[in-house]
Amino acid sequence: MRISEKVAEVINQQIHHELTASYTYLGMAAYFDAEGLGGFANWFRSHSEEENAHAMRLYEYLAARGVKMGFQALEAPKTDYESAVDVVKAALAHEQKVTDQIKAMFDVVMDAREYTAQPMLHWFLNEQIEEEELFSSVLDQVEAATSRFDLLQLDKELGQRAPSSGASEE
Ligand code: FEO
Repeated sequence: MRISEKVAEVINQQIHHELTASYTYLGMAAYFDAEGLGGFANWFRSHSEEENAHAMRLYEYLAARGVKMGFQALEAPKTDYESAVDVVKAALAHEQKVTDQIKAMFDVVMDAREYTAQPMLHWFLNEQIEEEELFSSVLDQVEAATSRFDLLQLDKELGQRAPSSGASEE
């Protein structure tokens, strides 16, 4: 089924945003690996993979509708942060930005009356609700860690939580 050009464009743009999120989390994983916090690093790596899976979901949606996609260069992600709190705060802010991008995508889809795209967008919005809650709860935990010992405990816990395959919530 064909979709309007405007809708195809905004979904194509969202692929870029999801890949940017993936790259951003990979940068965060690199920070934690360099800090000797492998549990945090694995957790962020799995989120990086999850964002990549989000991009692929959009890619498949457009490919199935015969849309010729185009891509832009990705900006190098940051790998230097002040602290674990700084990273998780930035990650939560990033998720909030993605939520706004998805809402903007929804606006375009509604304006174009592209009803067939709505189930997928609902899936993405639900995913954002889960992810914002998750990052926000990890932020609470990192903020409560007042010593290196606390941080190492949390690192161990997050390492156990990180799915080995990454896109487990797919
Ligand atoms: Fe796919 Fe967490 O945004």
